Amino acid sequence: MSLLIVFILTAVISSYAATPKQCFDNTFHFGVGSSALQTEGAWNLSGKGESIWDRYSHDNQDLVFDHTNADVATDSYHKYKDDIRNIKKLGVTFYRFSIAWSRILPTGLIDEINEDGIKHYHAVIDELLKEGIKPMVTMYHWDLPQSLQELGGWTNPIIADYFVDYARVLLQNFGGKVNTWVTFNEPYSFCHDGYGGLYAPGTRSSGRHDYLCGHNVLRAHGMAFRMYEKEFSHLKEIMQLRARILASRYPGASRSMYSRWSCA
Ligand SMILES: *[C@@H]1O[C@H](CO)[C@@H](O)[C@H](O)[C@H]1NC(C)=O
Repeated sequence: MSLLIVFILTAVISSYAATPKQCFDNTFHFGVGSSALQTEGAWNLSGKGESIWDRYSHDNQDLVFDHTNADVATDSYHKYKDDIRNIKKLGVTFYRFSIAWSRILPTGLIDEINEDGIKHYHAVIDELLKEGIKPMVTMYHWDLPQSLQELGGWTNPIIADYFVDYARVLLQNFGGKVNTWVTFNEPYSFCHDGYGGLYAPGTRSSGRHDYLCGHNVLRAHGMAFRMYEKEFSHLKEIMQLRARILASRYPGASRSMYSRWSCA
């Protein structure tokens, strides 16, 4: 009961405190987002390597309620121009998407760089820029290369070095065009549910592997950020890769977003 009262009081106070007009000023950017696995398809085309979600959804068809997988998804790999046209119709100003680690590095390691993968993401980014939509790129959205999982995936400390290598390849190739980067999407979910629950890779080791994953993701994030600071300082004026785990800040917008969030 007391909780309810607090809630109602808050609602009343906030409705007095602000009019809707004050909630979003012109530094607030609206956008839409996706992830590679949920949209791209083309899971085994043009040199892409297998990811843990490819393997897991093929081996455990009963875990997905309609027994589907992400082999084709929404086929955005082939239909990205249609998708971008639709994003444009929505009237948003940025699009957050993720790059599939295994499309750039099929084995997860930099000994083999898939030029078709690099070309594909250049085409996507160029199309967005042509349409006046800012690309915001997530480096890792749950789809670890399967070959790295065979080494223990996020439970093996060496994964942080491999992530830095991968991040460097991304910044070298796309850093001049993409100025907002996110290192990890929802680390809590892919560690807790991936290593401790029902998500890929499905090791079901709650209390051990999920904790190791969390530790190594934090290390990987910090190390990637230091690498960016040290090696890409020439891009600093135009690029943001902030020390935020869930999202890097959108230039200029975040302070107003946080200070004004309460009136939304
Ligand atoms: C790719 O995967 C599909 C199943 O989604 C399969 O039918 C096809 O043969 C595979 N292609 C290659 C080149 O392995």
